[in-house]
Amino acid sequence: MPYEPLLLRNAGKPGSETIDAYLASGGYQGLRRVLKESTPEKMVEEVKASGLRGRGGAGFATGVKWGFLPKTRDKPRYLCINADESEPGTFKDRLLIEKDPHLVLEGIILSAYAIECRTAFFYIRGEFHQGCRVFQRAVDEAYAKGFLGKNILGSGYDLDLVLYRGAGAYICGEETALLESLEGKRGLPRIKPPFPAIVGLYGCPTIINNVETLANVTLIAERGAAWYATIGRPPKNTGPKLYCLSGHVKRPGVYEAPLGVPLMELIEERAGGLLRPDRPLKAVVPGGSSMRILPASKCDVLMDFDSLVAAGSMLGSAAVIVMDAGTCMVWALLSLARFYAHESCGQCTPCREGTGWFVKILERLEAGQGRPEDVDLLTDVANKVEGNTICPFGEAIAWPVQSYVKTFREEYEEHVRRKGCPLAATATVS
Ligand SMILES: Cc1cc2nc3c(=O)[nH]c(=O)nc-3n(C[C@H](O)[C@H](O)[C@H](O)COP(=O)(O)O)c2cc1C
Ligand code: SF4
Repeated sequence: MPYEPLLLRNAGKPGSETIDAYLASGGYQGLRRVLKESTPEKMVEEVKASGLRGRGGAGFATGVKWGFLPKTRDKPRYLCINADESEPGTFKDRLLIEKDPHLVLEGIILSAYAIECRTAFFYIRGEFHQGCRVFQRAVDEAYAKGFLGKNILGSGYDLDLVLYRGAGAYICGEETALLESLEGKRGLPRIKPPFPAIVGLYGCPTIINNVETLANVTLIAERGAAWYATIGRPPKNTGPKLYCLSGHVKRPGVYEAPLGVPLMELIEERAGGLLRPDRPLKAVVPGGSSMRILPASKCDVLMDFDSLVAAGSMLGSAAVIVMDAGTCMVWALLSLARFYAHESCGQCTPCREGTGWFVKILERLEAGQGRPEDVDLLTDVANKVEGNTICPFGEAIAWPVQSYVKTFREEYEEHVRRKGCPLAATATVS
């Protein structure tokens, strides 16, 4: 049976970003029902029962995370929406924000109600100029129609939403750096514990959730946890998912499919197959730049949290970066390393220094000045970064370095032997 989109059901239709179009398509009915018939506790249980796992990268169970909030009510509780989306290859949240902001907004209001929050913060990547405009308009419309503000739909529940623009740092997508940035400080990740659910924004209990995660909450409120839990690969990989296809494919873009769709189906059927028929598939990064690379021989895999861990990588942000035989794996890693060296916040020595070392070593390999010991040196430095940093940014570059070198070791050694890049004339990643 063809798959009916749920998250992208409105996106792209004329006027999809307006509240009138959203209401005409049945929008805000889930919120009406929940405010009338449910309670915050029941809503948390509903999200737990749906099996929803966070779509921001780590795949943590959303309802379980909400359950970590302290039982006491002596401090305000905050919901921060992570719309910083800066992971290379990832562009799904942007589509939701620009094309169906009310689907996201309804999920935010429902989630805020569930965790008993009265002020939510929408932290949006500063460069999303169009997204900022569209979302602010959606917020204004929601206030005007009584979906935000005091006594929402006569329920007695109050919620304010503040839109906050980031200033262009990838690290501010890391949840504790995001909190620091919201508080007006430099976006430096905090040491955990304490976790934000206990000590978060302004020292108060805080939940941070991804945009796509919250759009899924709208679906759960509309049609119930039991229905939601049948989509995908239950019980641990439920729901619809947005996949970002980029690199050497004919039709790059955002595609929706259930969790557990075969990777090759996304590449061949959704994205139209490889760009150049004379160049076979070489490798795929299945979950955004921070994840381990899969060689073509391992691409017969399902796109869900657990299948990708079993295959040696992770779903991450579900950004599928496709590389054909014309891609130099030293060059591709160098391009990544430059990004991470630039974006490291510099707090931890292994990350600050290690990312610089990666760039230096990869540049000399690519320039034909590599030494035989450089190949192992890359892995050695990566092993010293992994597990030794304040935030997972360290792993976000250590894992690619380890996996690119291990999987394509012969290519790295060839750069040393040949004193340069064997693919220099043809190498590209997009
Ligand atoms: C370096 C780094 C960047 C991140 N960037 C984002 C981001 O742009 N958006 C996002 O939702 N999560 C990002 N995360 C993950 C967040 O820290 C956090 O896990 C997520 O927002 C939780 O939401 P979820 O439970 O709904 O998935 C990033 C993590 C790291 C380490
Ligand atoms: S791992 Fe890197 S980005 Fe994260 S806190 Fe340390 S230096 Fe900053």
